Amino acid sequence: MFSFKERLLSVCPDLPKELIPKGYYRLGNVIILRSRKKWDMFTDKIGNCILSLFPWARAVIIQIDTEGVYRRPVSKLIAGNLEIPLIHKELGTYFVLDPLKITFSPGNHYERELLLHEIKNGVVVDMFACVGNLSMPLSVINNVKVYGVEISPYTFDFLVSTVKKNQVRTRYVPILGDNRKVTPVNVADYVLMGYFGWDLSQLRSALRALRSGKGVVYSHYLVPRGSDVASIFINAVNSLSAEVIDLEVRKVKSFSPRKVHYVIIANIQHVS
Ligand SMILES: C[S@@+](CC[C@H](N)C(=O)[O-])C[C@H]1O[C@@H](n2cnc3c(N)ncnc32)[C@H](O)[C@@H]1O
Repeated sequence: MFSFKERLLSVCPDLPKELIPKGYYRLGNVIILRSRKKWDMFTDKIGNCILSLFPWARAVIIQIDTEGVYRRPVSKLIAGNLEIPLIHKELGTYFVLDPLKITFSPGNHYERELLLHEIKNGVVVDMFACVGNLSMPLSVINNVKVYGVEISPYTFDFLVSTVKKNQVRTRYVPILGDNRKVTPVNVADYVLMGYFGWDLSQLRSALRALRSGKGVVYSHYLVPRGSDVASIFINAVNSLSAEVIDLEVRKVKSFSPRKVHYVIIANIQHVS
């Protein structure tokens, strides 16, 4: 089996070897390359060679980072024509997005799939919805009622388009705004907090979202390998007059040699 690099070099032997990433990921008919190198080194020569190798691909994007509260990719198109909106299909669900401006992590695929096995009914509040990256399959495949909160007006428009494309208008409710202010109260059996930078005021909104003060909260962390995320989370919950009845820490992916993406799945109840 030839690697991505070997396959590229077999058709374009004069490409600079040190610039070719180990692999790529696919969103719809677009190839995304990830690299920590400066993007001005990535020329249309690399992009066009990739397009010649993958006839289904229409465009190649290089992404070097993700930034800000909106988690905007830092990326640019290096070859082909990008049609926006891009339609990506995964787990039987459509996602309508702009891959240059909206994040959709391939490394979270297995987490999205696990959620489908874990949340089969009840009501979900997705506090960091994006285009329904975590919660849309629950609505489409498991018929679950979801409230998806998204702060970026640009991303929100794509969330609304994703809801329409999947024909789940009756069970997926997109809400535009800051989840500290607009998260629905007393409705949820499950709350998803799929954002590493959440703070205590957002955890407070998550706890208020739980129906009768009880339910399961999924909170995501990006921390140094081996960190005691369970204690950090339990202390945060306790500081808001609630308690963790039980909890599981699950690794989502290795993010870098030192950092790991975990999700904490916690059964919580308010202390009366
Ligand atoms: C990293 S993306 C995560 C998407 C998805 N939850 C996942 O795990 O793949 C975070 C999303 O949350 C949104 N967001 C950030 N702060 C927010 C806030 N205060 N209220 C609502 N949405 C917020 C961002 O605009 C972005 O679309």
